[in-house]
Amino acid sequence: MSHKILIGMQWGDEGKGKITDLLAEEADVVVRFSGGNNAGHTVIAEGQKYELHLIPSGILYPKKLCLIGSGVVINPRSLVEEMSGLKKRGIALDNLHLSPEAHLVLPYHLRLDNLEEENKAGDKIGTTGRGIGPAYADKAARRGLRVGDLLSRESFGKKLEKSLSYHNAVLEKVYREPAFDLQQLKVDLLSLAEEIRPHVTSLPPLLWKSHRENRQILFEGAQGALLDLDFGTYPYVTSSHPGAGGVSSGTGFGPRYLNEILGVAKAYLTRVGRGPFPTELSGEQGEKLREKGQEFGVTTGRPRRCGWLDLPALRYAAMFNSVTALALTKLDVLSGFSEIKVCTGYKINNSITDRLPDSFQLKNAQPVYQTLTGWEQDISGITNFQELPSEARHYVNFIEQETGVKINLVSTGPDRKEIIHRQPL
Ligand code: GDP
Ligand code: IMO
Ligand code: MG
Repeated sequence: MSHKILIGMQWGDEGKGKITDLLAEEADVVVRFSGGNNAGHTVIAEGQKYELHLIPSGILYPKKLCLIGSGVVINPRSLVEEMSGLKKRGIALDNLHLSPEAHLVLPYHLRLDNLEEENKAGDKIGTTGRGIGPAYADKAARRGLRVGDLLSRESFGKKLEKSLSYHNAVLEKVYREPAFDLQQLKVDLLSLAEEIRPHVTSLPPLLWKSHRENRQILFEGAQGALLDLDFGTYPYVTSSHPGAGGVSSGTGFGPRYLNEILGVAKAYLTRVGRGPFPTELSGEQGEKLREKGQEFGVTTGRPRRCGWLDLPALRYAAMFNSVTALALTKLDVLSGFSEIKVCTGYKINNSITDRLPDSFQLKNAQPVYQTLTGWEQDISGITNFQELPSEARHYVNFIEQETGVKINLVSTGPDRKEIIHRQPL
């Protein structure tokens, strides 16, 4: 049995939630492996809209095992709130399990995230403010608290005290901010522990058992390849590894059986937060994309920056994630543009390259565009490739040719049903 990985190919918000939900129908197990509640994944099914932040997008199907791996950082309050929101809407959570090794995002991480941003003045990253960077920093510095710690009432207080003595010193001495009260924080956090306890399970044996029983596992990426801590547009990245490489380290399921890697790419490009975006459209066309595509962040509500598709960036993401196929989303949003530009290369030091300049050189590079003819027809909800206007088909074929990766799925609307299957899943 080979399993599937689904990842974002750009700067996040590619429509991973929608495609995960679609693939989850065939899967038995859906697993989040990185990020935290900085993610916001939208699923629209049977007229209902769900926005998921920590819980895998497979949760809407009863009987699918939904797992949150150790590579995810978990804000326990957000998790409990998300769980209760789903329960209220009649979604069963019996099959939700999370790793005891996953690190906790605690209130001081959120405070530090915001203080670090405020102190960067003109150099802000534009984080989601969810404490993600400081939580991963604690993990790497080996002073983090984990889900398993929260479950041991006796030792949790001591561990929290140790962690707080460090963070309170930073808050008071570096930022001149008030400290957190240990007792209050301890009581608040332990009040969440009992909600979480029944869902905590060691994941590597569970994943291995699923594999041995020939159950199909789908790994649901969060964020996107260009936000990868190492391979993204550093320092304007997130603090984890959202690419295919993050799956094994973030779940404890080895890489041997992971050979189907689906990259989800938007038909144009968006970015929320700061950082380079060479194909960004600042004027009317950018506004048109934002309005038509409803490009506002699910997690923070921020307007997303919009621009043309960047093929060198897509090729790069396909390369370092060894992607086997693509899902192209939001093609319907491009209806009504008489011309569509696509970045095919970069001009740097007077020469043209088809590769994405690295993060050290990107600011000195100018995108080179090819202009394709657009289409007027509204293509929302089309499910047959042949029914698309010829220009839209050409656009899809062009991306396929330029990246050398098959586009197996084309999404023509936010609903589960608005999808073109070009190849069997
Ligand atoms: P994710 O973070 O990758 O899961 O993506 P988000 O949920 O943050 O953002 C994608 C947005 O586009 C959501 O509002 C989806 O409902 C919507 N969406 C997904 N696919 C399509 C599509 O093909 N067409 C349109 N118009 N909207 C889509
Ligand atoms: P999904 O899973 C879009 C961006 C932030 C910021 C940078 C660092 O919905 O695609 P962080 O809070 O992670 O420290 O912020 O990363 N970012 C996302 N952008 N979609 C996401 O998730 C994102 N998660 C983080 O905007 O630029
Ligand atoms: Mg999102």
